[in-house]
Amino acid sequence: MKPRVFVSRMIPQEGLDIVLAACDADVNADDRHLSQAELIDKVTGKEGLLCLLTDDINDAILGAGQQLKVVANVAVGYDNIDVQAATRRKIIVTNTPGVLDDTTADFAWCLLLASARRLVEADRYARGGKYTGWGIMLLCGEDIFGKTIGICGLGRIGRGVAKRARGFEMRILYTDAVRAPAEVERELGAQFVDKETLFREADFVTLHIPLLPQTHHYVSVKELMMMKKTAHLINASRGPVVDETALVQALRERRIAAAGLDVYEHEPYMASGLIELDNVTLAPHIASASVETRMKMAVMAATNLVEALHGRRPPNIVNPDVLA
Ligand code: GLV
Repeated sequence: MKPRVFVSRMIPQEGLDIVLAACDADVNADDRHLSQAELIDKVTGKEGLLCLLTDDINDAILGAGQQLKVVANVAVGYDNIDVQAATRRKIIVTNTPGVLDDTTADFAWCLLLASARRLVEADRYARGGKYTGWGIMLLCGEDIFGKTIGICGLGRIGRGVAKRARGFEMRILYTDAVRAPAEVERELGAQFVDKETLFREADFVTLHIPLLPQTHHYVSVKELMMMKKTAHLINASRGPVVDETALVQALRERRIAAAGLDVYEHEPYMASGLIELDNVTLAPHIASASVETRMKMAVMAATNLVEALHGRRPPNIVNPDVLA
């Protein structure tokens, strides 16, 4: 008998095919976000759950039906899953690292470039019929090349961002809980500094850290006050690492120049006042959204799910303790 699984949202067909071939799958074909009660109902009686980062997989869901063996998240971040509770219940949790690094690094750069050169404002201006002639100071932004980039978190995505910064001949600063090996620093031309130095010296601060209890509001009033008035903040990591209300205030008062955001503290909602600001570029959590990468993520998550259900170690287990 094939293992019973629930797929909480539609995923690219390449991933779905893997699940359908190996499992007795119940798929949320409506592709609608499900409530907690609906998830509990759907997970009951299932051994596997393939879910998205918008699903809050808490202890109640993990315990529903007592049969769950694996939760495969279609994302590299897994802060939407109570991993501790899963481990306690001997449920394997998996994620999709690696395949989205370059796509996400590209997008952090999209936000950085758009923010520095006021691309979205320029688009609105041109579309809005305001372009009546060239102007020497029309929509002037800021140079990027030769400036200082401050990368918070030099993991796989942060390194991708640094690699791209080299092409812009930037001074590259980074900070992290753990310093990178010397050869990585050398290869990237990245200099390790403390958090305060980074926030004080960077023209572009870009966040590539996971959401953990200790990174909640990693950027708050204090950090925003340290930043240069001309600096830009880029966030393509997780929303709650930034105190969004404090950011709105800083942008409104021009205490920093601008921000480029892909993620929000309470997605899909945004802090009051954010969308009214013209010095912020907003995207709806699409940093890893290229067709190729989303397909790879779906295949990876589906493979993790199926491997675990067949009693094999899934390639991307985040809580290996459950196998000990
Ligand atoms: C996207 O945000 C991911 O964590 O994969």
